[in-house]
Amino acid sequence: MSTLNKTLASSGIHGTQGISKFSRSTNVETTVFHSRGGLFQNSWIASLQQRKNSRHFLVMDRNIEKLYGSKVLAFLKQNGLKVKEVVIAPGERSKSLSVYKRLINSIITLGVDRDSYILALGGGVVNNVVGFVASTLYRGIGLIQIPTTLLAQLDAAIDFKQAINSPYGKNQLGSYYSASTVVVDPDLLQTLSLRQLRSGLGEAIKHALIEDQQLFSYLEDYHGNLRDKEFLDDVIARTVQLKVLLLNKSNDEKDLEMLPQYGHAIGHALEHLSHYKLLHGEAIAIGMCVMSEIANVLGVSSAKVMEKHYQIMSKFKLPTIIPNYISDQSILVAIRHDKYFLRNLRSVLTSNVGSIANVAEDPAKYVFNIESKVIETCLSRNRNKTLINQRVKIWTRKN
Ligand SMILES: NC(=O)c1ccc[n+]([C@@H]2O[C@H](COP(=O)([O-])OP(=O)(O)OC[C@H]3O[C@@H](n4cnc5c(N)ncnc54)[C@H](O)[C@@H]3O)[C@@H](O)[C@H]2O)c1
Ligand SMILES: [Zn+2]
Repeated sequence: MSTLNKTLASSGIHGTQGISKFSRSTNVETTVFHSRGGLFQNSWIASLQQRKNSRHFLVMDRNIEKLYGSKVLAFLKQNGLKVKEVVIAPGERSKSLSVYKRLINSIITLGVDRDSYILALGGGVVNNVVGFVASTLYRGIGLIQIPTTLLAQLDAAIDFKQAINSPYGKNQLGSYYSASTVVVDPDLLQTLSLRQLRSGLGEAIKHALIEDQQLFSYLEDYHGNLRDKEFLDDVIARTVQLKVLLLNKSNDEKDLEMLPQYGHAIGHALEHLSHYKLLHGEAIAIGMCVMSEIANVLGVSSAKVMEKHYQIMSKFKLPTIIPNYISDQSILVAIRHDKYFLRNLRSVLTSNVGSIANVAEDPAKYVFNIESKVIETCLSRNRNKTLINQRVKIWTRKN
């Protein structure tokens, strides 16, 4: 048993490799295959083999095509499948209407039918735009997600939410649509840049902060290499289990959908306003720090919990402070485009590390309505942290 799993064995959720399932009541059940090297094993291709007469589509971004395209195509063809590849540009800008349109045109002209599968091989961007395409072609055709970034393996692909961006904000066009299969192969992460690994850890930290104190302690105490295969494998297994549990429960309790959105209203605004210079995991890291300020100002958590937010992000070299070039006013306008915004920003807040706060002591209510003036106060408290940090540095140098 690995270190994390030993630490967590008592918690009742075992972060091990294997098969998990989740479903949304109106949609197909998703099977997640998680194992190192699993992409090139036959276990996950059974559903494709049942539709051998149809043509399937492997969609990748250009980076992934260079790294893994020919190997994955060869594997699928060796297994008797007819597969065409479609390549898009890498980066957030591909989550757009124009790329959506190009994909639809390519897939239709290459010969799609109702039994075709679309396979999304790539990060959250490829997974999201391809998921949206699959949900709209023939009102929904087969979808298989093969996430290749840490962020997508432990969060973005473990979801029913498919989306593209509009010129006004993130994820404004989308659908709820399940992949039948998600293939999580952590071996693919060895080619990922350190910055992208850190961005992916941002989502794992999010899950730790809102629902898993043990995962948080594990991350806090981890001093090894970020590329360590066992570390990555454990963090993925644990986070996937948390997300799968949450998705299964959210069929009955709709508000649970808000949990993975922690830090995202501000995060999405920052991503958009930075013109996507901030990576998703970086933007939500700052977003979570601002949320911790809000929880503190509203009196639902202590200054210590807030500091833990800043410390864990800094430990993994994630940003914590809103960039100077983004104004408070532009953030306040941008968060109005958040899907969950309803007169006020709505979000869960952490009461402690690993747990969320209840609204007015009601165990069934945990979505807070946060007024603009509280947000404004907390944006400036966050920016002032830079000054405090600088002052500490200057003070240390002099002494
Ligand atoms: N649907 C959801 O619930 C959900 C959840 C979280 C995030 N997201 C979305 O996910 C997107 C971010 O995804 P991302 O962080 O994976 O970014 P990404 O898809 O842009 O990938 C990041 C970069 O890494 C490269 N790359 C991917 N895999 C690689 C590998 N194995 N080796 C080397 N390079 C590789 C890509 O080509 C790209 O340049 C955002 O749009 C975000 O909104 C969606
Ligand atoms: Zn996210």
